[in-house]
Amino acid sequence: MDPRGRIAVVTGAAGGIGGALVQALLDADAELVVATDLRESAIATGDRIVAAALDVGDEAATIALVDEVEMAHGPIDLWFANAGLAVGGGADAPDELWANQWRVNVMAHVYAARALLPGWIERGEGHLVTTASMAGILTSLGDGVYAATKHAAVGFAEWMAITHADQGIKVSCICPGAVDTAMLRGAVGDATKAAAIIGGGEVLSPEEAAARVIAAVIDDEFLIYTHPELKTFVERKAGDTGRWIRGMSRLWGRSQQLLD
Ligand SMILES: NC(=O)c1ccc[n+]([C@@H]2O[C@H](COP(=O)([O-])OP(=O)(O)OC[C@H]3O[C@@H](n4cnc5c(N)ncnc54)[C@H](O)[C@@H]3O)[C@@H](O)[C@H]2O)c1
Repeated sequence: MDPRGRIAVVTGAAGGIGGALVQALLDADAELVVATDLRESAIATGDRIVAAALDVGDEAATIALVDEVEMAHGPIDLWFANAGLAVGGGADAPDELWANQWRVNVMAHVYAARALLPGWIERGEGHLVTTASMAGILTSLGDGVYAATKHAAVGFAEWMAITHADQGIKVSCICPGAVDTAMLRGAVGDATKAAAIIGGGEVLSPEEAAARVIAAVIDDEFLIYTHPELKTFVERKAGDTGRWIRGMSRLWGRSQQLLD
């Protein structure tokens, strides 16, 4: 959907890719962008931006935000479920850590869809743009919780796109490679080193990534790659998954040396 003249909501918009998406939507002439985050005070303010606190893992708060925005400004046309969490961990990570990432990386997309679908189906239009990751198609070296929850996010987006297409609902799923944000720097403090460890490709600025995303949203693309060159890995994985796993395992071994 072209954001021109439309009302969009972005979650996790206090910085990183979410903050850049807000600006890219304004550049694309959105009428209004509701920028939400846990950290409301960190959200950039400006003309055509409304800042609001939202914990995306809280369904009641999501429903309340949708109601408030629609009462005050009119129907929400696009929803960017961008907020995400990555803290590392595997099979031995505690259940609470798994549950929290499941809530933010997956259930937040379900809660948004649940809150928006009735109005969108009635109006015959609406565009849900969820953010997964290349980790949701390939994997995330060192972070099994992130890989599993992001795969689930891709699965839900695909299912939504198939099931609601004939009701006029568009769905896109963003699968970024490495983007220079607090999340990418998180583990090792350096974006390039972190990108090498996770195999995320060339490090893009949030602004470059957001510009690619909005162009793809205008074209109603389903799977949005910020790094189209990473498609080669997707094809190799699909072509011979056993070989891909052996190759990734060698890369994981080498990435351990980068951390030393
Ligand atoms: N940066 C990358 O390289 C990269 C790669 C692939 C996917 N992604 C995905 O892109 C999205 C944006 O990530 P980013 O890199 O900008 O990260 P970031 O950490 O810079 O920003 C994430 C934002 O989400 C907010 N947030 C966290 N939990 C929340 C919650 N429960 N409710 C509301 N807001 C919450 C944080 O306050 C933060 O402002 C995430 O879904 C992430 O998984 C990022």
